[in-house]
Amino acid sequence: MMKNIAVLAGGNSGEYEVSLKTAQNICNILDKKQFTPYFIHVRGSEWGYTDDLGNTFWIDKNDFSLMLSGRKMYFDVAFIAIHGNPGEDGKMQGYFDMLHIPYTGCDCFCSALTFNKYFCNVVVSHWHVPIAPSLHFYKDSAIDLTQIEAICGYPCFVKPCNSGSSVGVTKVHEIGELQTALAEAFLHDDQLMVEQFIKGREMTCGVARVNGRVQALAVTEVVAKNEFYDYQAKYTDSRHELITPASIASATETTIKRYSELIYEKLGCKGVVRIDFIVDSKEKPFFLEINTIPGQTALSIIPCQVKYLGIELKEFYQNIIEEAVQRFQIDDNNLTEC
Ligand SMILES: Nc1ncnc2c1ncn2[C@@H]1O[C@H](COP(=O)(O)OP(=O)(O)O)[C@@H](O)[C@H]1O
Ligand SMILES: [Mg+2]
Repeated sequence: MMKNIAVLAGGNSGEYEVSLKTAQNICNILDKKQFTPYFIHVRGSEWGYTDDLGNTFWIDKNDFSLMLSGRKMYFDVAFIAIHGNPGEDGKMQGYFDMLHIPYTGCDCFCSALTFNKYFCNVVVSHWHVPIAPSLHFYKDSAIDLTQIEAICGYPCFVKPCNSGSSVGVTKVHEIGELQTALAEAFLHDDQLMVEQFIKGREMTCGVARVNGRVQALAVTEVVAKNEFYDYQAKYTDSRHELITPASIASATETTIKRYSELIYEKLGCKGVVRIDFIVDSKEKPFFLEINTIPGQTALSIIPCQVKYLGIELKEFYQNIIEEAVQRFQIDDNNLTEC
């Protein structure tokens, strides 16, 4: 039977524009013989669907329904394509859990944990995946400069814990630049991390369930033409190069894939995620972060990796929707048992 899919787009972060493109691309790819996608624009408390004639219909948040042509319409699955708040940080997932509506991707807890870079690093290091030494501060914490010098040294990175697209991220070369970097990160979040700089090549690896098995898709090298992969480098085609598959030693590629699959499984991820690493001069990959709603515009890394594997994008997204439905069937059974 034809399924109505709400593709959620926009959100409240610096990644709003990218999310619109990600969501539009997913709408375009979905198999129209099986799915009717509805592009749902989310911004603050306004969540709406605009039809081809330009009429906007507002979502009734009590039951996530739309009143279309005088009839109440429900969705079979919510396809969350919002990067950052509120799609990647667990908030939307919590909302859909409460309404018992199937949604794609990681659950509420996994999304919230992985969205916080510092806490996610602590958990991931527990499974012996290398991470750079770092420190965590809240806005009202005392900041110990000697500790930063000793643990992280210079250069180091200052990043908001909950952010994305390098928004609020600064490479700090010397102590004199630290205060400005801290202030910048605190503009975007009330907690930040200071992390040791890892000199090396930047790699990123998509992971999803393919034919029922957790599989690293491919390793892509990100060559930033700026000092690091900052916001401008990410969203200006001429400021970066994406190489799939990365030209690296096969042992390094295997290690990155193995870490990526391990992290996906241990964190209980769902849908497609992308995990970033820096590989140092000794070929050691350091985990940087996990993106549970990675960019999926026509030019993004994930679609490129899926195509590289020889999988049709239409089929790939169909699997992700089916996974969402299945998970909720399992939850339904548990509900009945209660
Ligand atoms: N410890 C680090 N060492 C080297 N480069 C880093 C480090 N941390 C971040 N970067 C650079 O900053 C970019 C953004 O950092 P990241 O942690 O991935 O946050 P975001 O969620 O904003 O993408 C990375 O893609 C990388 O270029
Ligand atoms: Mg990143």
